[in-house]
Amino acid sequence: MAYNLLQGKRGIIFGALDENSIAWKTAQKVFEEGGRFVLTNAPIAMRMGKINELAAACQTEVIAADATSVEDLENLVTRAQEVLGGKLDFILHSIGMSPNIRKGKNYGDLNYDFFNKTLDVSALSFHKVMHVAEKLDALNDGASIVALSYIAAQRSFPDYTDMSQAKAMLESIARSYGQRLGKLKGVRVNTISQSPTMTTAGQGVGGFDVFFDFADKMSPLGNATAEDCADYTVTLFSDLTKKVTMQNLLHDGGFSSAGISEEIVADLVKVRDLSK
Ligand SMILES: NC(=O)c1ccc[n+]([C@@H]2O[C@H](COP(=O)([O-])OP(=O)(O)OC[C@H]3O[C@@H](n4cnc5c(N)ncnc54)[C@H](O)[C@@H]3O)[C@@H](O)[C@H]2O)c1
Repeated sequence: MAYNLLQGKRGIIFGALDENSIAWKTAQKVFEEGGRFVLTNAPIAMRMGKINELAAACQTEVIAADATSVEDLENLVTRAQEVLGGKLDFILHSIGMSPNIRKGKNYGDLNYDFFNKTLDVSALSFHKVMHVAEKLDALNDGASIVALSYIAAQRSFPDYTDMSQAKAMLESIARSYGQRLGKLKGVRVNTISQSPTMTTAGQGVGGFDVFFDFADKMSPLGNATAEDCADYTVTLFSDLTKKVTMQNLLHDGGFSSAGISEEIVADLVKVRDLSK
């Protein structure tokens, strides 16, 4: 059911690759709630993905931009305002990529050029997006900006390697830029720390299916899905959360507060009994 929570609001949604993407589900929900937006992704991803199908369903356009390129972002933010007919009320940064993870490199064998690329794509790009939006004076008062994070920013998850540092940096940028944009224009900046989710980026992480199941069993509410995340983002883009800013918001079914669960204990008892 839609509530028209985003009627009259305009924005940019980064990162819809295919129908599993968190950004894809978010675009659908934002559209249902009356929000209007342009979609964007890296030129290479646009060739691989199906973003044009989503654009047609949401009656909008796709503007290609590599989120690491300030020049691409300037073109995107300028064009988005022309297409949408005004300044922006929301931005979703739903971007992550680690060449080290793609190449299966473990934490003791990271390639540092790849590491820099991970940080640039997955964290610094968030700063660049806000920097360009500020410089071009593209944000309306009270706009809301959200990026997606993961609990590996605070806890160690071996196969998440350099993405852990990228997420820590992303969350830090949300605080620093949130303070600046809050003072300048009453703009909110938050990160959502989302449960493991079956997407292209998620499934690229080694052992993903195991830690997906582990998180699901640890969380009293179970893992939050991409649709759940989209709903949460809609609330953050809406006027119902005007005083929420500079936060890393845990959207994980309770995972981050759980010590151990009955399901995990039962599984470990089974393993122990089998090994007797
Ligand atoms: N899937 C999970 O388990 C999970 C959990 C927590 C947080 N997240 C985060 O959610 C966000 C979205 O990921 P997803 O799971 O929907 O996967 P996804 O693979 O569908 O989305 C990742 C997107 O990043 C885009 N991207 C990569 N490099 C880019 C660049 N240079 N410029 C612009 N875009 C670029 C990709 O094209 C893709 O659309 C990421 O920040 C990810 O780290 C995912």
